[in-house]
Amino acid sequence: MITGIGSLVTNDTAHGTGPLGLLTDAAVVIDAGTVVWVGPAGAAPAADERFDAGGRALLPGFVDSHAHLVFAGDRTAEFNARMSGQSYSAGGIRTTVAATRAASDAELDANLARFVREALHQGTTTIECKSGYGLTVEDEARALRIAAGHTPETTYLGAHVVAPEFADDPAGYVDLVTGGMLDACAPYARWVDVFCENGAFDGDQARAVLTAGVARGLTPRVHANQLSYGPGVQLAVELGAASADHCTHLTDEDVAALAGSATVATLLPGAEFSTRAAYPDARRLLAAGATVALSTDCNPGSSFTSSMAFCIAVAVREMGMTPDEAVHAATAGGARALRRSDVGLIAPGARADLLLLDAPSHVHLAYRPGVPLTAAVWRAGVREL
Ligand code: NIG
Ligand code: FE
Repeated sequence: MITGIGSLVTNDTAHGTGPLGLLTDAAVVIDAGTVVWVGPAGAAPAADERFDAGGRALLPGFVDSHAHLVFAGDRTAEFNARMSGQSYSAGGIRTTVAATRAASDAELDANLARFVREALHQGTTTIECKSGYGLTVEDEARALRIAAGHTPETTYLGAHVVAPEFADDPAGYVDLVTGGMLDACAPYARWVDVFCENGAFDGDQARAVLTAGVARGLTPRVHANQLSYGPGVQLAVELGAASADHCTHLTDEDVAALAGSATVATLLPGAEFSTRAAYPDARRLLAAGATVALSTDCNPGSSFTSSMAFCIAVAVREMGMTPDEAVHAATAGGARALRRSDVGLIAPGARADLLLLDAPSHVHLAYRPGVPLTAAVWRAGVREL
């Protein structure tokens, strides 16, 4: 049992107040990796072991529903050039593709393990992981095989950019992505994704990729409207995608489509930060009634951060979110984007994924940007930090 919780974010409206389901002076009882009781500390049942939170804030572990973690090398020089005025383009992805193809399985596995641990130590207890830096049948399949060893939330992103070998034959590459590559990858993937953007895949190509994935039992999610206006968001909604990710350039019709659907708008402020671009307008989406998630987009090109706390702070400062909304989006929002009901909340039956802050309130995640506030982390009831 964790007792002495000064402020508890449950994300369960049956407990406490507001969408965060806030409780003060609370306790949480865990059994066999699962939350079994939540309520006022004074009413808690007896328990074998007690952990005193010392009046600090406890919240659900972060759910990072968008990350690209199977890769080798880094792109420091590209970042440096951007910070001297160059702009970001999808073309940089090919630099990481070359480094990733050249790496051994053991190297990719060790890199991924390092990022998952790095994220865990900052409170992320569920993380999604995409392929997309292999772009051959063998390299995409091995990326997903390696990813599946670390998370069940694996995403086939063979359609990240057209592979260099197919530079003159993009239609041939789409045939591969929807054919032999999909066959090799589907056994290791839960989701199918496509980068729908100028310089990557257009609306028709994206539709072909997603519908082929769906036919193989994968559920779609889409890199949509990141660098420019385009068809990605409408396509995501039309195909019932779990999420449309980035959502930086949205028309009123795009916002209305998201608001009228179960497709989550996943915002990735690390990408705008690291590409020095204008941030998406979270307020506009929330005002329309869309469900918003916040994630890191952790990757070596556009957003090399694994910190959900950083994303929360930026979303509050730059995207019009309140601290409550941002924390909700980084936990419950991510769970919605991954269609998970067992994570992103602290309620009886949920997996005991918990983040204890070195702070009296979750608001400190935005109020104290850049300060390491992780006091303890449990994943499925196991203390990880
Ligand atoms: O989500 N936009 C496409 N993919 C990544 C960037 C990948 C890269 O630059 O290596 C993203 O931002
Ligand atoms: Fe991404």
